[in-house]
Amino acid sequence: MNFELTALPLGDINSDLEVVIVINKNTHHHFVQDAPLLKKAGFEGTQDETCLLVAQDRLYVGADSLKSSAIRTAAAVAIRALNGTSYKSIKVATYTDNGCSYSLRAMTEGFILGAYSFNVYKSKKKKNPIKHITVSLQEYENLTLDIEEASEAIHKAQITADATNFTRDIVNTTPEDCYPEVMASIAEGLAEETGLHCKILKPKELKDEKMEALLAVGRASRHKPRVIHLSHTPKNPKCVVTLIGKGLTYDSGGLSLKPADFMVTMKSDKSGGSAVIGIMKAVAEMNLAVEVHGFVGAVENMIGGDAYKPDDVLVAKNKKTIEIRNTDAEGRLVLADTLCYAQQEVKADYIFDFATLTGASVVAVGNYTSSVMGNNKELQALVVKEAHSAGELATALDFNRYLRKTIKSEIADICNISNTRYGGAITAGMFLSEFIDEDHTEKWAHIDIAGPAFVEHIWGENPHGASGAGVRMMLRLIENLSVK
Ligand code: BES
Ligand code: ZN
Ligand code: ZN
Repeated sequence: MNFELTALPLGDINSDLEVVIVINKNTHHHFVQDAPLLKKAGFEGTQDETCLLVAQDRLYVGADSLKSSAIRTAAAVAIRALNGTSYKSIKVATYTDNGCSYSLRAMTEGFILGAYSFNVYKSKKKKNPIKHITVSLQEYENLTLDIEEASEAIHKAQITADATNFTRDIVNTTPEDCYPEVMASIAEGLAEETGLHCKILKPKELKDEKMEALLAVGRASRHKPRVIHLSHTPKNPKCVVTLIGKGLTYDSGGLSLKPADFMVTMKSDKSGGSAVIGIMKAVAEMNLAVEVHGFVGAVENMIGGDAYKPDDVLVAKNKKTIEIRNTDAEGRLVLADTLCYAQQEVKADYIFDFATLTGASVVAVGNYTSSVMGNNKELQALVVKEAHSAGELATALDFNRYLRKTIKSEIADICNISNTRYGGAITAGMFLSEFIDEDHTEKWAHIDIAGPAFVEHIWGENPHGASGAGVRMMLRLIENLSVK
């Protein structure tokens, strides 16, 4: 899909179809040329409502306001409504929130995110038909937007949405086709393309680094673990950011085997790691003035004669001992070692980890929202704020000392599960905090993306399956750090 920006008014542009966004049900706006027909068709202009007038070659879509989040979703819904049609090109006006280019960026993102489909395993590929989008600088409220600024907004949107779709592709790939070695070669391929630096740790190096918790999780799999380290190191960076992702290419639960219904979709347990790879792609393409390191613990959690067991005690890289009581709480073990390794390699100003860590996060905040934890309330609030401005949902969950007691162990330093059924997202987060060095305590936030990373129906700008959760929120955060 390519984008063209023009100063020509809409009426002077040739394309198959015009997309009109109806703001706040205002069908009297001069952009709405077909008010009587829309009335006949029962179109009111509520958020995400569409009406295709074939004889007029116009598609109307409703948005609650001119805000980014409303425009992004409306654009995604509009482009999706054209699936199966024979339109190849569209034209659209510019919509700004008081002249600011964020909504243009959001609209562009919406088109690219909404047109996404994952076709690898289909004999008949069903692709969105729109190849060309012409954006006119003609603005909804007749405001003038600088062409340079508009073009920059579109360019950033393309990088952001393409990176999100890149992450979606990795997550949607089956565990038979995407295992740790494959994740590592995806990272190496990306590094070659973008100029990122890439280092891969194989089992021997993982052993040398004493990452015994991570190795134990991967032991029963025929696919051996990898730790990926991608880095973007511009000259004179504003600050240093470390990202860590849970890359469980499959989570069967291990010997604490998941019930059949819960195992389906566990190819998505690599969503955190895949998000980190997607973020690195965009950071490199935008050439942001921040040093960014991305670490992925890529492991498959399987059963077998060599599997790690409930009752084992593992020694993590920082020498803390962990009593295993459930092999399905494996993500925190992989992250424990990957967090230790990342902190040894890089002294960062910010550390963020992304993981489909707990079903409890989904219970707590629902399918659409990530939960943000850590020891620094301001940092949690920053992540939530940037997530919202980038079009993702996130909310802070707070640690407390009572829940901390529930992961104490009688025989080791800590237990990998809590002794209570409740508060599982928080206890998992508090487990991770045991692997954060003292000098990084306040610099770290943990983002549990178990809810939004993979949802089996269409919602907002997200398709069936992988959403690419984490990519947009973190990019926005790093972008803002790069201009501070
Ligand atoms: N990968 C799962 C968490 C998960 C569940 C992600 C549902 C996405 C959707 C994780 O490894 C896991 O199995 N966690 C257990 C922890 C429990 C054993 C303490 C869980 O959430 O049940
Ligand atoms: Zn698990
Ligand atoms: Zn898992």
